[in-house]
Amino acid sequence: MTGLCSRRILRLRLQYSRYWFMLVPTVALILFIFSVGGGFSFPCTLMTCHSEESLPSPDQKRNGELSSLSDLNGIEICLSIKFVEPIQPLELTGSPQLGTKGPYVVVYNYLKSSKFYAINETVTFTTHSTPEFMNNVGTIAERWDGPVSVALFVPSTDFCRTLHRLIFLRNCDKAAYREKVTWHLYWPKDSPPPSSWSLVPDETQVECEKLANDYRHNIDLKQTWRAVNHLSYPINVGRNVARQASTTWFVLPSDVELFPSIGLAPQFMNFISHQSNNLKMPPRLNKDPPRRVYVVPVFEVKEILPNKKEELIIQLARNSAVYFHRLVCPHCQRFPGIRKWITEIGTPGQIHAMSWTQRVPPYHRWEPIFVCSPREPLYDELLSWDGLQDKMTQMHELCLLGYEFVILDRAFLVHAPGIKRPTRRSSRNSERDAFVKENARIYEQVVTMLDTKYGANTKCPHH
Ligand SMILES: *[C@@H]1O[C@H](CO)[C@@H](O)[C@H](O)[C@H]1NC(C)=O
Repeated sequence: MTGLCSRRILRLRLQYSRYWFMLVPTVALILFIFSVGGGFSFPCTLMTCHSEESLPSPDQKRNGELSSLSDLNGIEICLSIKFVEPIQPLELTGSPQLGTKGPYVVVYNYLKSSKFYAINETVTFTTHSTPEFMNNVGTIAERWDGPVSVALFVPSTDFCRTLHRLIFLRNCDKAAYREKVTWHLYWPKDSPPPSSWSLVPDETQVECEKLANDYRHNIDLKQTWRAVNHLSYPINVGRNVARQASTTWFVLPSDVELFPSIGLAPQFMNFISHQSNNLKMPPRLNKDPPRRVYVVPVFEVKEILPNKKEELIIQLARNSAVYFHRLVCPHCQRFPGIRKWITEIGTPGQIHAMSWTQRVPPYHRWEPIFVCSPREPLYDELLSWDGLQDKMTQMHELCLLGYEFVILDRAFLVHAPGIKRPTRRSSRNSERDAFVKENARIYEQVVTMLDTKYGANTKCPHH
C-alpha cells in the first residue's frame, strides 16, 4: 500500500519536475484562498474540527445540521417502541433530598432485576448514567457479582433514547443486565418525557438485530437531547436515587465508568461478617453504632482492565496504571497508605482491612469512593457534575461527624481504559465556568450550614 503510494508520487515527481518552480506560488495562493473564504466551505480540512463534528457516521450529513429537529426524531424513537402496562403500577415521586417540592421527579424501579436481593445478603453497586454509558453496566454487574442499581437521567426525548438502549441491553446483551440490574428514571419537572412514564416497553417480542442496527446507524440515538440543549447534569440526584432504591443495607455509590475488581460484592460480604477478627480499630468512645465507611481505591489504566490485584500491581509497576486522577487532581484520590497498598498483595479471593484513617489534613481534599449504609448523609442535589467537586459537601459532613475510613486491601475500582491528562485551561469548555462558580457558591453555603449544625472543626477546613 505505502510502496504503491510512494512509487506513484515518484512517477508524478519525474513527470512534473519541469514545473517545480510553480509549486511554491501555487501553494501560497491556495493557502491564501483558504484563509480568506475557505473556512466556510472546507470546515474540516485545514482547521481543527470540533469533536462532535468529527464523529464518523453515514447519517451525519443528513442529520448534522438539523440538530433542532432532534426532538422530533427523539419522539419517533418512542413511537417505534411498543409499550405495555407494568405488572406493578409505577409511581412518580420527588428526589431523595429535595423531595416533591424540588425540581426533579423520579420513577423508582422502572425495570427491575429478575433476581431479588435480601437486605444483608449482599452489597449493591449504585450509579447514575446517561444513554451513552449504559453499555458499561453489564460488565460492571458481571465483575461485581451482585446487584446493581442505576438511576438514568432522561429529560425530554432522552427518555426514548434510553429505553431503546435498555430494551436491547436487557434482551439481547449480557445475561447480567436482566438478572442483576435495576433501573430508575429521573428528569427535571420542566422537561418531562414525551411519552407516558407509567408504561414500560413490551419485552415479549424484541427484535435484537433491528435494535442493534438502529443504534449503529442512527446518530440521533447517540446525540442526546441533554447535550444538544446544554443541560447541566444533576449527578447527585442520580447518586441519591440509586442509593435510596437499593434493597440491600450496604451500597457502593460509584460511577458508571468505574469497573470493580472481580467478585467484589461477595468478598466484601465475607469481610463484613468476619470484620471483628481482622480490624485493629481504636477503642470506641461510646459512639454507637460506629461511624465507619469502607474505602475502595480507584485506579486508571492505559488499556487493559485488571481483574485481580496481582494484575493491577504489575500494571502499576510498568506505569500502565496510576491511581485515579493522579495527573488531573493529585489530591482527590491519593489515599493514606497508598505505598503500602500497592506493594502488599494480601490473600487471594479475600478482602481485609489494610488500615483506617480520618479525612483530616493533608487529606482534607480527598474524595474517596466507599461502601456505606443508609445511615450516611446524602449528596447535595443542587451541585451539578458540570460544576466539579460535587461530593465535597458530603465529605465535609463525614469529617465533622468524625468518620473512620477503613481502607480495603484487595478491593479496587478501575476507570474505563485511557489515562486522563490535564486539558489546557483555554481549551476547556468555558460554558462550564458558570457551573463551577455555581457549585462553589452552593458548597460554601452548605458547609457553613453544616459547621453550624455540628460545630466547626479546624481539622475539617473548607478548602
Ligand atoms: C443488616 O446489617 C446491618 C449492619 O450489620 C444491621 O445494622 C442491620 O440491622 C441488618 N438488618 C437486618 C434486617 O438484619
